[in-house]
Amino acid sequence: MKKIALLASGSGSNAENIVRYFSGKAGWEFPLIISNTADAYVHQRAKDLQIPSFTFPKNGFENGDVLRLLQEYAIDWIVLAGFLLKVPARLLQAYPGKIINIHPALLPKYGGKGMYGRYVHEAVVAHRETETGITIHYVNENYDEGQIIFQARCEVLPADTPDEVAAKVHDLEYRYFPKVIEKLLNRTE
Ligand code: GRF
Repeated sequence: MKKIALLASGSGSNAENIVRYFSGKAGWEFPLIISNTADAYVHQRAKDLQIPSFTFPKNGFENGDVLRLLQEYAIDWIVLAGFLLKVPARLLQAYPGKIINIHPALLPKYGGKGMYGRYVHEAVVAHRETETGITIHYVNENYDEGQIIFQARCEVLPADTPDEVAAKVHDLEYRYFPKVIEKLLNRTE
């Protein structure tokens, strides 16, 4: 049985998409959703999905509170789905090689502190990129720098607005993130 905690700071559409993808598949559990934002819409999605969700302030991720909750739920893997805090050493040490993240660009470009959500797509458009995409990677002590697991691309047309680019990237996220999780976790115990 794989027990996965989902961490999200905002809307949580990727978190919901992942849970729905695995519903009905034996051997997969998503017993816990954690946010650093009390009014994040991900809590509403968790309620609709009947998954307990919790909010912790930044220091709760650092001081062992979050770690205790993860252990209480016997969590094996942590999936960041729109989680904006840096993962502290305490969690990295407790879950070595078991924390993955999705970034809405083709890392190493357009990554790092402050590069999230629409800021990423605005930068891609401003730099007249002809393509963008998603990167799924292991999490390490720095933003968006862990070993890359998977990337998928989409084209960026000269007339594309950041919102249009965001929509294309979200499509890639919803299509690939659950499949990459399934493949990766089936490959590694
Ligand atoms: C996604 O674009 C994801 O790539 C990035 O944060 C966004 C989260 O969106 N890490 P949502 O909260 O899943 O709707």
